[in-house]
Amino acid sequence: MFLEVRLAHIIFAAGSIGLFVLRGAFTVLAARPLKQRIWKILPHIVDTLLLAMGVWLAVMLRLNPFHVTWLGVKILCVIGYIVLGVLAFRLQRPRWLRFSVFAAAILLFAFIVSIALFQDPRGIFVLVA
Ligand code: HEM
Repeated sequence: MFLEVRLAHIIFAAGSIGLFVLRGAFTVLAARPLKQRIWKILPHIVDTLLLAMGVWLAVMLRLNPFHVTWLGVKILCVIGYIVLGVLAFRLQRPRWLRFSVFAAAILLFAFIVSIALFQDPRGIFVLVA
């Protein structure tokens, strides 16, 4: 069961960033929002399943984010990723600001993946620190 949930978690993580980049390419870069409701609803479904699988994994492994530093930092970064994701799609902001927020969200996502892979709060920076 653990391996299946972990695989689902990884697939939903790939789906989450894939949909984010796709939506961003239209909304943030081309300033032409995707009108169909599916593009608004699908990312929420995928993100909810990604987070649910993450919580399930943590429960199965008995990992407490208040004790396991990498998991605690990962959850804080996930909250940051969600906030940046919401801000990136506010069309009334100037284009350069939307683009910067969009790029920051993608970088933060990559950092979250590196925290998961190294199981270290420093993520990819464990290689230099
Ligand atoms: C943007 C959100 C997230 C991304 C991109 C992400 C990414 C990943 C990836 C790629 C792995 C597999 C690492 C490996 O191969 O060893 C993983 C594992 C894991 N994630 Fe996440 N995750 C996210 C959110 C969460 C959340 C919110 C939680 C918990 C509340 C969580 C808990 C876990 C746990 C417990 C593992 C298993 C570690 C192990 O194999 O021992 N993740 N995550």
